[in-house]
Amino acid sequence: MSGRFVTFEGIDGAGKSTHVDWYVERLKARGIDAIRSREPGGTPLAERLRELLLTQPMSMDTELMLMFAARRDHLERLIRPALAAGKWVVCDRFTDSTWAYQGGGRRGPAERIAWLEAWVHGDLQPDRTYLFDLPAGMAAQRRAAARDADRFEREDEAFFERVREAYRGRAGQAPERFRLIDGRLPIEDIRKILEEDIASIGN
Ligand code: TMP
Repeated sequence: MSGRFVTFEGIDGAGKSTHVDWYVERLKARGIDAIRSREPGGTPLAERLRELLLTQPMSMDTELMLMFAARRDHLERLIRPALAAGKWVVCDRFTDSTWAYQGGGRRGPAERIAWLEAWVHGDLQPDRTYLFDLPAGMAAQRRAAARDADRFEREDEAFFERVREAYRGRAGQAPERFRLIDGRLPIEDIRKILEEDIASIGN
């Protein structure tokens, strides 16, 4: 038996994290054994790398490799064992974030990201990815109202426009995996979309 791997993506402030907990609860209500996780993070080691990634100045290459190092630990210790046990893993961000932030936002080289992705988890991709989409200016307003900015959130609007475009490009390349969700919709409407989609995953 093999579980399902579901990821939530979007620029900071697009609203995805609000929905992750709710989604996991809905899966459980359907009798599905589901766990929530996040990236960077999800294991003790990866959470320590997350702390460094969100606070320490570093080069683009270091950032890229630390993201994948955290991901590798997360895959080995949590994601793969859970999927092998038939569980659903619902993850707040995964490698689409790397394509969007390190590739789009920082304009990192695509061939290096592709190479790292293939090495770290080439055979494993999410079964479903929900992309929460919002204009960068609106997302910035939401972030300003919500919390203190981390190292990524201090980037300017042009950075987040590039992140958004990179995300949309990825969604266009894999329409069967992605579901694009308009982050401006009321929470109830978004929940309805998510609820209706659960049954279709992996079928
Ligand atoms: P979070 O605030 O949604 O938990 O994500 C932390 C930050 O890490 C967010 O600004 C996006 C960034 N990030 C990357 O730049 N690349 C990645 O691969 C991942 C997983 C996150």
